[in-house]
Amino acid sequence: MEMTDSRFLRACRREPVDRTPVWFMRQAGRYMAEYRAMRGKHSLLEICRQPELAAEVTLQPVRALGVDAAILFADILLPLIPMGIDLEFSAGEGPVIHNPIRERADVAALHSVESRESLGHVLEAVRLIRRELDGKVPLIGFAGAPFTLASYLIEGSSSRSFVRAKRLMYGDPPTWHALMSRLARVVADYLVAQIEAGAQAVQLFDSWVGALGPDDYREYVLPHSRLVFDELHATGIPAIHFGADTATLLPSMKEAGGDVISLDWRTPLDWGWSVLGPDIAVQGNLDPVALFAPRGELERRVRAILQQAGGRPGHIFNLGHGILPETPVENVKAVVEMVHEFSVREVA
Ligand code: CP3
Repeated sequence: MEMTDSRFLRACRREPVDRTPVWFMRQAGRYMAEYRAMRGKHSLLEICRQPELAAEVTLQPVRALGVDAAILFADILLPLIPMGIDLEFSAGEGPVIHNPIRERADVAALHSVESRESLGHVLEAVRLIRRELDGKVPLIGFAGAPFTLASYLIEGSSSRSFVRAKRLMYGDPPTWHALMSRLARVVADYLVAQIEAGAQAVQLFDSWVGALGPDDYREYVLPHSRLVFDELHATGIPAIHFGADTATLLPSMKEAGGDVISLDWRTPLDWGWSVLGPDIAVQGNLDPVALFAPRGELERRVRAILQQAGGRPGHIFNLGHGILPETPVENVKAVVEMVHEFSVREVA
């Protein structure tokens, strides 16, 4: 068989690969000196808004780590800005929204978004990155899922218990669904625009969806995420569905869509894959904190994940969630080498 395509895209399609592909969520970020140097000169939003800077930061981990995919440097909250949201990334606190959504009138006041205009800088970054990558590794585009975006919009910042978001969900379901369907349309349009600009796979980040049980997921989230995945399916480009703390949500997440489902470290990879079934690819699932462990322990955990995947086509090695800011970069690099070394196989 000729390796006409990258091992990452082949794995998304559950085709055989020469080695297990590996990339990391949040592979560009503060744990890298190159990124910190860039942040010394520019704010996060400045980097996101200047395609040359976003492209440079996207390529930093590709050069430094030897990963099998690049992920566009942007943030899941960017599309909220043209919707009329006053967003700030404050040092230490994370994202803060100064005009959060609290009632029906706030949803009605959201602006409609034409991604190709108001998020044109992201699409320009995609085109620039594709040119600079020159076919070396594929480029992953991404967006936040409707639930995770809605929870930021309603809470106004990161949250532990999602009291405000759930209060709206349980207390005023029509307003909840109105907000979710607005978000689903924005996200679907934005991801299709990224694909048109050159993204070769896309990931939908539903980072906080593990706050819900399966009944609430099915009623309040699934139809909206499914709208996004249905539009992506029509493009033929692979889609990755990410959530964390999702053990009981996996069958419903599969129903919502995606060619690849991301598993976190609380879910053993072989168990998660058997719940999902063999007709879907999986991504994961090293604990990001394992990157702080002694090298021998890290190696043991990498081997255990590869063993659970058992060489079956359709495994993409990743963490269960994003790289943490203090992570030793040499351990991240070592994991790439371990995955490539331990998974080597003959593709006939
Ligand atoms: O390398 C990559 O993965 C691409 C870049 C990327 C960023 N944000 C840049 C960023 C990606 C994929 C994201 C996604 C994102 N943003 C998510 C989903 C992923 C996840 O971890 O669940 C979420 C929930 C956000 C929202 C967000 N943005 C938070 C909560 C924060 C603050 C927390 C933190 O890590 O500081 C951000 C800021 C942010 N976005 C940073 C980066 C590199 C760090 C800020 C900085 O440089 O000052």
